[in-house]
Amino acid sequence: MSTAGMMRDYENKSLLRFTTTGSVDDGKSTLIGRLLYETNCIFEDQYAAVAKTSEMRGNERVDLALLLDGLAAEREQGITIDVAYRYFTTDKRKFIIADTPGHEQYTRNMVTGASNSELAIILIDARHGVLTQSKRHGFLISLLQIPHLVVAVNKMDLVDYDEKIYNEIVAEYRAFSQKLDIHDISFIPVSALDGDNVTQRSENMPWYEGHTLLHILENVHVDADKNFVDFRFPVQHVQRPNLDFRGFSGTVASGTIRVGEEIAALPSGKTSKIKSIVTYDGELESAFAGQAVTLTLEDEIDISRGDMIVRQNNLPQVGNHFDANLCWMDEDAMDPSTHYVLKHTTQKVKCFVQDIDYKIDVNTLHREDADKFQLNEIGRVKLKTSQPLFFDEYRTNHGTGSFILIDPVTNRTVAAGMIRGKTRTVRDVTRSKRAESRVSPNVKWETRLITREVFEERNGHKGAVLWFTGLSGSGKTTVASQVVASLFEAGKQVAMLDGDNVRHGLCGDLGFSDRDRSENIRRVGEAAKLFYEQGNIVVCTFISPFQEDRDFVRSILPDGAFFEVFVKCDIEVCKRRDPKGLYAKAIAGEIKDFTGISSPYEEPQAAEMVVETDLQTTEAMVAAILAKLGNDGVI
Ligand code: ADX
Repeated sequence: MSTAGMMRDYENKSLLRFTTTGSVDDGKSTLIGRLLYETNCIFEDQYAAVAKTSEMRGNERVDLALLLDGLAAEREQGITIDVAYRYFTTDKRKFIIADTPGHEQYTRNMVTGASNSELAIILIDARHGVLTQSKRHGFLISLLQIPHLVVAVNKMDLVDYDEKIYNEIVAEYRAFSQKLDIHDISFIPVSALDGDNVTQRSENMPWYEGHTLLHILENVHVDADKNFVDFRFPVQHVQRPNLDFRGFSGTVASGTIRVGEEIAALPSGKTSKIKSIVTYDGELESAFAGQAVTLTLEDEIDISRGDMIVRQNNLPQVGNHFDANLCWMDEDAMDPSTHYVLKHTTQKVKCFVQDIDYKIDVNTLHREDADKFQLNEIGRVKLKTSQPLFFDEYRTNHGTGSFILIDPVTNRTVAAGMIRGKTRTVRDVTRSKRAESRVSPNVKWETRLITREVFEERNGHKGAVLWFTGLSGSGKTTVASQVVASLFEAGKQVAMLDGDNVRHGLCGDLGFSDRDRSENIRRVGEAAKLFYEQGNIVVCTFISPFQEDRDFVRSILPDGAFFEVFVKCDIEVCKRRDPKGLYAKAIAGEIKDFTGISSPYEEPQAAEMVVETDLQTTEAMVAAILAKLGNDGVI
């Protein structure tokens, strides 16, 4: 065959990504070395060097584990310490091995290496049998939803190829794995050192009737496991090299897309068609999961990094409360009183641990109560994020269903998570109750002689609700009070409702849980409406951290009467200002559920006005707000 022919042949072969795990000394490196050697994927001189080293060390047999690169640290510590990717190929397939360490404290690496594998091999030392580690790895494989598992019972040579020992291990592991969500599991007795059942059938174990390891690797059917349906394209960069070209670059997380197909951009919901699919090697007709491409669209629509391009009729879920499985991977335990940075596709948002449902004992798979997770602990949590994510359940989509948590102080990756679905929050429940009971029984809305229109007529301006939202200390009250003063001086009819004041009396029974905040906003929203109906320009200043609550107030007013004013200010500046000393207390853990520290703030995505108190003067902000009211015909 010509070189070009060989290349083509190589490119057309299917690819299997797999991962290997086991405890220290289970023989993983030897097994991988054996696979590389027997598939002729190492060079003569490499083999010669390994043979020589083995001889110098007085080993009787060539130590194939020495073939693996990145060995310096491993030799020093006697364990593999990071994920290494290795490649080999046979006539049938190409393979990428994510070689991950087995030592307990390195669960993190296993999660990293395994997350996009289609198959996992767990090695069990025949002499030691099933260890906690072997179970932990099985559990992780099930959590990560790796579809195929091969349990290789290694070092059979050291137990005289004893069928009984092998069967006992298989029975024990099978019983354990029945409680897991793994659909395809096979067992093989091997000796990686001698090559029994790795690529050649073993003459030492005639009682074993199954396939060799390589046979399974070459034949396992994996395409059915991939998500070719749901097109998800998280935008990594916007390319604008010149005025004529505007492209969106990223990696297709799942699904496929073709030139000419209709798409929608999230969060804007704007639609267009794919004009071209550009890569370094030229243009493509279609792109599929895993490909890094640049998409150009027929229409100019506004899309930025972190947005997602999808098909119009196949949308991901959108939300900022979700349930997830979480593997804690940091030496420092989780601190539920603070926030983490959640990285999901190309987005980074603030994340709060709202609740820990339970942690799992990996040996028994029992659920246990927990108030935080320590290194290597795994369990179920409820998370909330400061901005909505576009996600799918991990079960159906690994790319858009997984995330990591980063500690904003140390910048370390502290956890890996898999989304199970949206959380049904207390607020969802109260909201639906609220919708049912918006009106007390046996009451009728009193229509007055003097209607809003009559008030507005006499006042010479319209009524409106100016809703200032922002972090504590962002300057809402300062700016709003000036707006009230200016309107008052100009003879307008104004009223003010302020968070701290309303919480003396009207809402004095409410605290700062999500539910209480919702109720707070519901009450003041209704109060603002009553004032509005009497012709007032009602100026409201509430943190009102949840978009749904702000949207509720908007929904009870006529179109055009509600003005959401986002009082934007960097939280670091708010902390420095700390006018009431509350941030200091919240950071010290003395105040619970403090916005921005231990409770989220959802920034408005479509506010009528944004003012930036850390950048603009009060005069400029007040002037901008009055100008907006003028332009919109309120005053
Ligand atoms: S909201 O979240 O329900 O809209 P609101 O604006 O009424 O809050 O009240 C916020 C004020 O309460 C802040 O200005 C601050 O002085 C005080 N406060 C006390 N505890 C908290 C807390 N845990 N989080 C935020 N603000 C708090």
